[in-house]
Amino acid sequence: ADRYAVIGFPIKHSWSPFIHGLFAKQTGQALTYTRIEVPPENLDRDVNAFFESGGKGLNVTVPHKQAVALLTRFRTPRAEIAGAVNTLAAQPDGLLGDNTDGAGLLADLTKNLSLELDNTRILLLGAGGAARGVLGPLLGAGPESIEIANRNSDRATQLVNEFRLLGNLRGCSFDEISTDGTFDLILNATSASLQDTIPPIPPAVIGPTTLCYDMAYGKGDTAFTRWARNAGAGRAETGWGMLVEQAAEAFQLWRGVRPETKAVLEAVKSQK
Ligand code: ATR
Repeated sequence: ADRYAVIGFPIKHSWSPFIHGLFAKQTGQALTYTRIEVPPENLDRDVNAFFESGGKGLNVTVPHKQAVALLTRFRTPRAEIAGAVNTLAAQPDGLLGDNTDGAGLLADLTKNLSLELDNTRILLLGAGGAARGVLGPLLGAGPESIEIANRNSDRATQLVNEFRLLGNLRGCSFDEISTDGTFDLILNATSASLQDTIPPIPPAVIGPTTLCYDMAYGKGDTAFTRWARNAGAGRAETGWGMLVEQAAEAFQLWRGVRPETKAVLEAVKSQK
């Protein structure tokens, strides 16, 4: 059977083997999918060893998404724009790097959560790798504006400068967030949830029509979705849907078949 895996550090708790295992079963594809723990100093060696021994594809997670791009011979436009790679595919002429995170987020928002993104006001919290990875696809969905707020406002401004030709962007710090009205979508792309804290944003920007989305996920609510619901958000969602949808995009790239995500997302949510 063709071999696939997810690499990261740490990697023990990754749900990707479970998700891809269900995709394979559902589509009748013969493949194996495992976890490989790869510390940063071994990235080059371990990725090359995996593909030299006949491996077909890897998913890449924290902290390798930017570094692994340097090991690819080809990159899809969306990986190039994101400056990060989360999917590697063996090709006859060399390694291809793709980034399915943004498409995964968009699929979850528009398909699973039925959110129309055109002409919406979006607040993006964070300006690190996770924010950068989804900014291009988000802008492609035609929002009215995206405000990027970050603890270090210089990083938000830098991101705005880099993406400004693609849409209406503003960068600021958390205490400079526009308070003239609520946002349609507030996306948490900071790693604050991992420390069980929330980015300090004014509750006034949240209303009954606001969807608050945390790209992080855990058992039940995250600190951000719990806070958002208390602050009056119409809906607050964690990132499980994005996780499953980015996996479906990777599976399609590797196998040429699009798996159904609905049942898999339900299975993941009932297991966690
Ligand atoms: P990732 O790939 O997860 O985005 P990263 O590139 O290290 O990782 O970026 C982490 C993001 O979370 C940054 O936007 C960071 O803010 P700074 O740029 O100001 O460091 C943000 N972040 C991390 N911890 C945070 C916290 N406790 N409160 C608010 N923002 C936080």
